[in-house]
Amino acid sequence: MEASPTPQTVTPVGLNEPDGRLGGGLSRVDGPLKVCGEARYAADFDAPNLAHATMLQSRIAAGRVRSIDTAAALAHPGVLHVMTPFNAPRLPEGGQAGVKPPAGRVLSLLQDDRVHYDGQPIAVVVAETLEASRHAARLLRVAYEEETPQLDFEAAKAEAHPPKEAQGQQPDSARGDPAGGFASAAHRHEATYTTPLEHHNPLETHATLAVWDDDELTLWDSTQYVHGVRETVSKRLGIAQEKVRVINPFVGGAFGSKGSAWSHVVLAAMAAREVQRPVRLVVERTQMFGPVGNRPFTQQQLRLAADGDGKLAALEHHVHAETARIEDWIEPSALLSRFLYACDHVATSHRLVPLNVGVPTFQRAPGESTGSFALESAMDELAHAAGIDPVEFRLRNHSDFDQERKLPYSSKTLRECYARGAEAFNWSARNSQPGATRDGDALVGWGMATATYPSKRMKSEARAELLHDGRVRVQCGTHDLGTGTWTLLTQVAADTLELPPARIALEIGDSALPMAPVSGGSMSAASAGNAVLAVCEALRTRLVELAVADEDSPLFGVEHELVELKEGRLRHGQDPSRGETLEALAARHKPGSLEAKVMATPGPDSEKFSKHSFGAVFVEVRVDAELGEIRVTRIVGAYAVGKLLNAKTGRSQLLGGIVWGVSMALHEHSLRDPRYGRIANANLGEYHVPVNADIPDIELIVVPEEDAHLGALGAKGIGEIGITGVAAAIANAVWHATGKRIRDMPIALDALL
Ligand code: MOS
Repeated sequence: MEASPTPQTVTPVGLNEPDGRLGGGLSRVDGPLKVCGEARYAADFDAPNLAHATMLQSRIAAGRVRSIDTAAALAHPGVLHVMTPFNAPRLPEGGQAGVKPPAGRVLSLLQDDRVHYDGQPIAVVVAETLEASRHAARLLRVAYEEETPQLDFEAAKAEAHPPKEAQGQQPDSARGDPAGGFASAAHRHEATYTTPLEHHNPLETHATLAVWDDDELTLWDSTQYVHGVRETVSKRLGIAQEKVRVINPFVGGAFGSKGSAWSHVVLAAMAAREVQRPVRLVVERTQMFGPVGNRPFTQQQLRLAADGDGKLAALEHHVHAETARIEDWIEPSALLSRFLYACDHVATSHRLVPLNVGVPTFQRAPGESTGSFALESAMDELAHAAGIDPVEFRLRNHSDFDQERKLPYSSKTLRECYARGAEAFNWSARNSQPGATRDGDALVGWGMATATYPSKRMKSEARAELLHDGRVRVQCGTHDLGTGTWTLLTQVAADTLELPPARIALEIGDSALPMAPVSGGSMSAASAGNAVLAVCEALRTRLVELAVADEDSPLFGVEHELVELKEGRLRHGQDPSRGETLEALAARHKPGSLEAKVMATPGPDSEKFSKHSFGAVFVEVRVDAELGEIRVTRIVGAYAVGKLLNAKTGRSQLLGGIVWGVSMALHEHSLRDPRYGRIANANLGEYHVPVNADIPDIELIVVPEEDAHLGALGAKGIGEIGITGVAAAIANAVWHATGKRIRDMPIALDALL
């Protein structure tokens, strides 16, 4: 039977909520589909004659696969094929050249017998059923030639080297004379902070369905970047990009792990070609801890000093972060120290420490989340040394311009975040002495930190078309990670065209749609959002042009500028009764003439301003004086993120980020066995994330802010700033409660005993 290349997808078309205005709280247009189980995720898609694949992973961290005995697996009922390094199809050489991260990563595609880390894919079993493929994978007998893996961070520091770049910036920076500033300052602080290895655990694990139709490949893949997956897969397989289509209407969380196409995506396509059937490969929960990225361990050395007035006299931030031996990927933790505070004497550096581990990757606010823990903890320590309140200390070192790039900010309303957050938290009632506030058995502590994340925008394309039923189809190859893109882009179109949301037929999540960048870096609203805004404006212009040039239109001959689009009608601005409905206009024209397409690019402003979101987060903890148990009891976060486009989904984004910050401070930690390189807690039973009982009421304040420099939409990005600063605020609160300074995340109660 031939597989249908038609996407099996249901498109949300907006609720009957009349209010699609930007800034309002339009409910998720895809909510009903999700609640009714009709929203299909990658693994939900089906294909005729579907076969199931299971990935087998290496049980050594370094060496070679000497042999794989496949006899028992192949003899198991229903098993179709076992793909190993010894029989896998050879892929064209150089298939990785020129593909940049996040699309281009170092993959393990069974092209040789080398093993570089525990958990590396070393075979793929394909069977009639998922159960048969999983069972047969256990029947494979693998013989290894083991080598001693490098898993010792301190020892591997001897091999530390700078990355080629850190998130597009130089890995190192220096200005002024930090050593001199430090030596002569009134107050000094120097310490090392660490953040742990973490693994992304979205509810939806990675999954790929690969369907070949002759030489054309369709992938239903859980990804943040359909166009990136298409590029990776086509280059690795050596086929034209036009022959590959990637579809992904819904994503059950991603957080950076799905920004890159990992090995299993290409392996699924290879396996499907081998067995000449559609193949579905679902990454198992335990397999999330290895071959699909992680947030690497960081060790950050901070050296800060302040003069007698509490002004920073020196700031150094030096980062060592693990990476894989097969790929350099840097967690750019020191970038924020370059610009956040006013200081003339600053030095930062990033060094990679290569280990036999899986390749690290972007994880929510890569760099800023880990870096803000170290910097904002150190700022708290220095503030105490200088005898200055932590908020006051930050205000004294506030900068109105980007200190590193010497550029004005596109907008910065951070002072108001401090003020509004402090007021809501009642910060002024804080006793400056640590360990001095007790309530029954609990030591009560208050801490705060600055939050920041870059505001990014990349070029994005969009297409809009008036349909004969009067609805407008809007297309953009972006994605909804669960973040609200379906809703937001519907809203942008509805707001621009002054139509109810139900009249917007949005299409996203398909590489056949106009190009959009990776949905990462908190840039989808600014990138795809501004593209949808621009294309809807272009469509309106197009429709007005058609009407005024059309003898059959009541608007024939009217000056273009006098025509407006209101309530689904084109009408004369000075004589609203003169006009026609969109349906009437559409009825007289062929579909191809009722459309617009734009490539929206960041304007020249993008080089003239430094662009970041800012915020301030305040936390109360209660620590059991005898048991050391830590409870977060209050959080107030105040953020300046440009225009808040959707009050409901935007709030959820910030809340989710804050919750992850709590997780970073108190819960998450992938424990790697130092002998074997295996993650000992590769499951959600032992890899702790917060549950409802761990999260107090969170008070969110979004301060009003205008910023037109990222685009007409005015949004600065909201997906990642929420996690930044939170871990430091909690560590600062724990210190304030107990007098104990914990510089290694996560804080477990034994550190307080
Ligand atoms: Mo985000 S870590 O850029 O998906």
